[in-house]
Amino acid sequence: MENNTINDTMNDNVDDNVIEVSHLSKLYGINKKEAAKMMSEGASKDEVLKKTGVTVALWDVSFKVKRGGIYVIIGLSGSGKSTLVRCFNCLIKPTSGEVRFENKELEKLDKKELLEYRRNKISMVFQNFGLMSHRNVIDNVGYGLEVKGISKEERDQKSIEATKLVGLEGWENSPIASLSGGMKQRVGLARALANDPEILLMDEPFSALDPLVRKDMQFELLSIQRKLGKTVIFITHDIDEAFKLGDTVNIMRDGKIVQIDTPENMSAYPADDYVKLFIDSADKSKVMSVKHIMITPSCLVKESTSPINAIREMRQNSTSSAYAVDKKMKFKGIITIDDAIKANKESLPLFDFIISDTITVTEDTLINDVLPLSAKSSFPIAIISDSGTLRGIVTKASVLSSLV
Ligand SMILES: Nc1ncnc2c1ncn2[C@@H]1O[C@H](COP(=O)(O)OP(=O)(O)OP(=O)(O)O)[C@@H](O)[C@H]1O
Ligand SMILES: [Mg+2]
Repeated sequence: MENNTINDTMNDNVDDNVIEVSHLSKLYGINKKEAAKMMSEGASKDEVLKKTGVTVALWDVSFKVKRGGIYVIIGLSGSGKSTLVRCFNCLIKPTSGEVRFENKELEKLDKKELLEYRRNKISMVFQNFGLMSHRNVIDNVGYGLEVKGISKEERDQKSIEATKLVGLEGWENSPIASLSGGMKQRVGLARALANDPEILLMDEPFSALDPLVRKDMQFELLSIQRKLGKTVIFITHDIDEAFKLGDTVNIMRDGKIVQIDTPENMSAYPADDYVKLFIDSADKSKVMSVKHIMITPSCLVKESTSPINAIREMRQNSTSSAYAVDKKMKFKGIITIDDAIKANKESLPLFDFIISDTITVTEDTLINDVLPLSAKSSFPIAIISDSGTLRGIVTKASVLSSLV
């Protein structure tokens, strides 16, 4: 397993490679020079952050993506997967190194070429679907075509085809709100396909779906990819998903590539303990963070909310507790309906009754570390950002179902 950062250097035909990444690095922070020096001397991402305050999102990453296959990128939270995606769709500029698409360096594209690349060559599929709820299925699927100025007739024809391809025939005129999570992601996929791109970029597209629906979607994606022969770049945390879908799997850690291989070779010859951890972890909770399973709390109350309004909110949402935040969405604690009723009776402010010693965790906490907390906690656990803003909650049910 020497030189496992370079994919298939033999038989290297440029036309076979749709994407080529060379020596790509992305650093966040002021003192990048010092950080880069430390990295090239072999320091770790943590050491660099401590000493220089710079976050290494990617460091000296090189690989090639062959046309017409599924290329999976896998790694723990923070390993740089989404940063790579953002470099592919030109949302961010690399600190150094380059990405080439069909042998053209992305940073060198002029405005027109860049527009053409983003509109016609790549399509994104997101974890949170990114659909427009006021539009029906067909108008969501046709959105990219509409932006390109394609006539209604032509885009409807293409959208109907794409809708059929993802198994949503008959749902063309349904409102988005009436669809299940799996169906929404089918719409997301159809929208990407309707554009007829060279590359489908999928950043954890199935992570929020429940396990059975997720399996269906994996099967669907495989069938579609085999039928259309599109190049798919697929990001995941889930080794089963990676091995099921990937023609090639690229495993990343702390912004660097650890191993690139076929699923068969990777299972047979894992490059190190990190790869082994992934392969052996039938238990995904050890590699997936709560960010990927959190949901929006159904009931939020602000400091200014009166007890009576809080009670009404909770009743409307059929819940017996609410998440309390200040004006800036900083998490303050939990209010129960019993306490809200008490506050109302005694004409006291709602926040006098706040339960503020509840358990909170940050978005990057591994599900495995939340399991014991979740068992102990009487309420779904609040997920907060580093600055204390409420980002979502995880329920016992979502923690447990992520383990299936
Ligand atoms: N805009 C930014 N500013 C500062 N640091 C950032 C920024 N974007 C990403 N990072 C950092 O870069 C690193 C890589 O982030 P990235 O989002 O690529 O990870 P990821 O592998 O996609 O993680 P996840 O599995 O949680 O989605 C992380 O340490 C992250 O905190
Ligand atoms: Mg990510």
